[in-house]
Amino acid sequence: MNSICDPDLSVKIGNIKLKNPVMVASGTFGFGEEYEDFFDLNQLGAIITKGISLEPIIGNPPPRIFETEGGIINSIGLQNPGFKEFIKKRLPYFKKLRTPLIINFFGNTQREYVELAKRFDEVMGISGLEMNISCPNVQQGGLAFGSDPKIAYRLVGQVRKATKLTLIVKLSPNVTDIEAMAKSVEEAGADAVSLINTFRAMAVNIHTKKPEIGNIIGGLSGPAIKPIALRMVWEVSRRVEIPVIGIGGIMKAEDAVEFILVGASAIQVGTANLINPTSGADVIKGIKRYLAQNRISSVQKLTGLFNV
Ligand SMILES: Cc1cc2nc3c(=O)[nH]c(=O)nc-3n(C[C@H](O)[C@H](O)[C@H](O)COP(=O)(O)O)c2cc1C
Repeated sequence: MNSICDPDLSVKIGNIKLKNPVMVASGTFGFGEEYEDFFDLNQLGAIITKGISLEPIIGNPPPRIFETEGGIINSIGLQNPGFKEFIKKRLPYFKKLRTPLIINFFGNTQREYVELAKRFDEVMGISGLEMNISCPNVQQGGLAFGSDPKIAYRLVGQVRKATKLTLIVKLSPNVTDIEAMAKSVEEAGADAVSLINTFRAMAVNIHTKKPEIGNIIGGLSGPAIKPIALRMVWEVSRRVEIPVIGIGGIMKAEDAVEFILVGASAIQVGTANLINPTSGADVIKGIKRYLAQNRISSVQKLTGLFNV
């Protein structure tokens, strides 16, 4: 029995039951194992993997990470072992945990997205899929799938048909109208949206006059993006019926509470994991404390309590 002193943190995203609303964001938590010495990973609401593609990807040239004021720019280039290797070498570790596993995946073409969704659908031990649509669409001249609502609608519709797993679509902030993107993927059958991915960004070394990132342009994440992410989560939450998962610069429980207040049903901790490996666990504790102190009996009751 939960009470005001012992608030209920559980949430449901599609068919996934999470014991709390805190997930670790794709690409910032390795393949889980790297973090097991720091805390019990079974505490987490869910773990999201690094983005997986059909074939292995070696990624971008170094330097791949550059620290800015209030954030980092990364250009990993979606390095990953590919589907087969992931299933063989990485999945067995996750199967030992009780925490739901959500696979972040992407393709260069619609065919690749659909093929991956079909393959993951047949694998045991996976609770859901998070579809990264921020990658370049090779067949449409490199423009990201995630920046045109019509293209995203078609892509998500096809992936929806290919899998029964809970399907979360991860939105890019590098768009003019993120609400239109969210609405479009909801209509195409997404069970939830997660936002935001990183902002396209760069930095210059004034001594060498060279870019600080090997690929010149990377993605900005961390506290610097939080206010913009929060605004986007608020706008999207008002527009869609499906659950919204808030991401962007969440470093502590208070940040997570802000996202939940403006409408997020759950949140993801990203860059913070690279600074303090126990960030996810700390955020869980802090949300619980906030609810108890404010005499709110469940996190679900907190969602959308933003008072304008
Ligand atoms: C080093 C690094 C690697 C990332 N890799 C992925 C990825 O493979 N797929 C993806 O959808 N997002 C990826 N992201 C984006 C994060 O999951 C998250 O959306 C973003 O960093 C914003 O949240 P944050 O400010 O809390 O880090 C990556 C971010 C970082 C910093």
